[in-house]
Amino acid sequence: MNLCIVGTGYVGLVSAACFAEMGNDVCCVDINPEVVENLRKGKVHIFEPGLDEIVKRNTEQGRLKFTTSIKEGMEHALFVFVCVGTPSKPDGSCDLSFVYQVGKEIGQNMQDYKIVVDKSTVPVGTADKMRSIIAEELKARGVSLEFDVVSNPEFLKEGDAVNDFLKPDRVVVGTENVRTAELLKALYSPFARSRDKLIVMSVRSAEMTKYAANCMLATKISFINEISNICERVGADVRDVRVGIGSDHRIGYQFIYPGMGYGGSCFPKDVKALIDTSRQYEFEPQLLASVDEVNNRQKHVLSGKILKYFEPQGGVVGKTLAIWGLAFKANTDDVREAAAFELIRDLTAKGMKVRCFDPVAGPNTRKEFAGDPNVEVVDEQYAALEGAAALAVVTEWNQFRNPDFERIKKTIKAPLIFDGRNLYSPSFMGELGFAYFCIGRKD
Ligand code: UGA
Repeated sequence: MNLCIVGTGYVGLVSAACFAEMGNDVCCVDINPEVVENLRKGKVHIFEPGLDEIVKRNTEQGRLKFTTSIKEGMEHALFVFVCVGTPSKPDGSCDLSFVYQVGKEIGQNMQDYKIVVDKSTVPVGTADKMRSIIAEELKARGVSLEFDVVSNPEFLKEGDAVNDFLKPDRVVVGTENVRTAELLKALYSPFARSRDKLIVMSVRSAEMTKYAANCMLATKISFINEISNICERVGADVRDVRVGIGSDHRIGYQFIYPGMGYGGSCFPKDVKALIDTSRQYEFEPQLLASVDEVNNRQKHVLSGKILKYFEPQGGVVGKTLAIWGLAFKANTDDVREAAAFELIRDLTAKGMKVRCFDPVAGPNTRKEFAGDPNVEVVDEQYAALEGAAALAVVTEWNQFRNPDFERIKKTIKAPLIFDGRNLYSPSFMGELGFAYFCIGRKD
């Protein structure tokens, strides 16, 4: 099949590469000429395990092409996937200007029947608006062409996106048109071989499903973080509580790891956007508002522990904290809404210096804190510890799980660890002679 994919971010590029891998001819459109030029040479601008290889192979074999022209991209395509960004506005609502701009350009360039597929995360009602934007453009051109707009939200996780795309739990297709549903079923048949993996529903239900899924997962995280805060106060250990509740298959073990609060480009934005949508319909979403609030509070729990610890020792002014992990989670260089940044801001505001390390997110962090003399990013894990009064572990990269504790002790000023991801065993840390503070356990 011939596809056009507009937007070469995480969702667009991963979808394009995986569709091409299954033998489809895919033309990707991006407004950034530099990104397009690099992709043509097989150079991928985002860090996503396994993606480089698939992009390179399919580009070399001619199934994956890149252009800055939507006209060219759409020329032979039956499907036009919209995979552009939907950032949050300052009030929490979703900025749809990129999506609607693409809608206009589709209307301006359409020459024959197209199925326009919204893959970006968009509020309920966006597909209807897209339909009218495209229709207006066609009317302005004085042409009458048939087209369809469907919702097909993406459920991929950064760091595991290729795998999620190739082996999805489910594929959700929102359309009221039976023929369009059949065409999408055919397109997805290599990924969702079992028929019940492909779920067809109305456009609005599909748009809502995306938000409901992310908000459910965000709720699980805020729930366990709330429990962890209570555990700390009552003298329980949240790690045991997690196993105790996760063993009930109705609850499950996944997404109940307490930590630094959820970050990234999806959960914080999507929870806020659904709150906003709900308020537009004059319904106060009390649970979602609390999920968001609990998450904002959680991002300051570790800095609170650090400030409290150093208070009797004259505070943190002039002291240095080593930080391991800057990305919002492991296996990505993405630092959007990263808990590490909140930690850095909290502590440098109190006069502490930080020396940070991350396996891949160093460059993005340097950009964020450029010119701040209190923030240093180093390229080696143990170098971050030199002269530091303590170590804070913020992202759960595998290389932090079993470090050389003797080397840490030798390098750092005092054997003191604040662990925002509960990577180590408190009793083992005690045996090694570390003062150890983690999440959800009485200090
Ligand atoms: C999330 C969803 O998991 C995907 O299904 C969805 O498609 C995607 O958003 C999206 O809407 O595009 P992602 O943001 O890549 O994917 O990351 P997650 O792995 O879900 O992690 C989100 C945040 O929650 C991270 O900060 C992570 O550290 C935190 N988290 C996750 C916890 O604190 N505890 C957990 O138990 C799980």
